[in-house]
Amino acid sequence: MATKRSDDVSTVLVTGASGVVGSRVVEQLAAAGVRVRALTRDGERARRAGFVQGDLRRPETLREAARGADAAFLVWPLPIEGAREAVEALAAEVGRVVFLSSAAVRDVPGVGPQSPGRPDGEVEALLERSGVAYTALRPHGFAANALRWAEEIRSGGVVRGFGGEAALCPVDERDIAAVAVRALTGDGHDGARHYLTGPEALTQAEQLRIVAEATGLPARWEEIPRGAARERMLASGWPPGIADGALDFLGARIGDPEAVSEAVPAVTGRPALTFRDWARENADRF
Ligand SMILES: NC(=O)c1ccc[n+]([C@@H]2O[C@H](COP(=O)([O-])OP(=O)(O)OC[C@H]3O[C@@H](n4cnc5c(N)ncnc54)[C@H](OP(=O)(O)O)[C@@H]3O)[C@@H](O)[C@H]2O)c1
Repeated sequence: MATKRSDDVSTVLVTGASGVVGSRVVEQLAAAGVRVRALTRDGERARRAGFVQGDLRRPETLREAARGADAAFLVWPLPIEGAREAVEALAAEVGRVVFLSSAAVRDVPGVGPQSPGRPDGEVEALLERSGVAYTALRPHGFAANALRWAEEIRSGGVVRGFGGEAALCPVDERDIAAVAVRALTGDGHDGARHYLTGPEALTQAEQLRIVAEATGLPARWEEIPRGAARERMLASGWPPGIADGALDFLGARIGDPEAVSEAVPAVTGRPALTFRDWARENADRF
């Protein structure tokens, strides 16, 4: 289908609509007066206003959900199998896709988007080949990842992990959604690849201190060896390749902080939200 101009975008299909980023995309699109179809597999949730039932791995349901929409927000939190059919289903129905990819993706000249061990690069390559106009959001670690400390904070406050001194720039999911909404409804983003970070680098131990201040709950970081951290990640369901990649990345960011990207302020016209903003907003979730 032909690329939509912003004033044509009145209905958007949001996949991952119950998730960390998609739920914010739904809120912000609705606030902007855009009609939203929020996709979920959950039959119960799908009965609520605005939701439609569908499964990314059942392309006929995706195509049905996308019919008549102008644009789609796509998440692919799945192995790559089935992605080609999903992308084809969307490309047949909408003029524009904004894909929640990841900062792991690099554009290799003559090869295309690549993210060894992760599906994001391949999904981007499928979008490229489909011919649909698309924007790739390539966020670094979400601020919401701090919620994985919640259980240890509640049960005594000692958070055990590898890379307490690794300095990262966590990005607030509201900022990822704000960029998504601009790309879904505005001009000038088709073909863009937006690397998204928060406004400053903070070590994991510093992030934990900020969470402790915001929640009023005592918390301290206890460093564990990389091997022990890997075992814990595998036990909680991380695929080995992704766990190894994440641990390599953390190791590399000790003494070499992640660089801040200016994409959030450039696209939204306001400063990126800080991790302190995020911790205050989400304090009750700990
Ligand atoms: N966490 C990070 O730091 C980070 C950084 C960069 C990129 N990412 C990327 O962000 C994505 C995850 O986004 P998120 O954290 O917003 O999601 P999330 O909170 O993990 O939620 C997953 C969403 O995907 C939907 N979903 C899962 N399987 C589905 C299927 N077969 N059919 C339809 N919907 C399905 C779920 O919907 P229902 O259960 O309602 O069906 C849910 O809304 C991943 O692709 C990840 O690689 C994450």
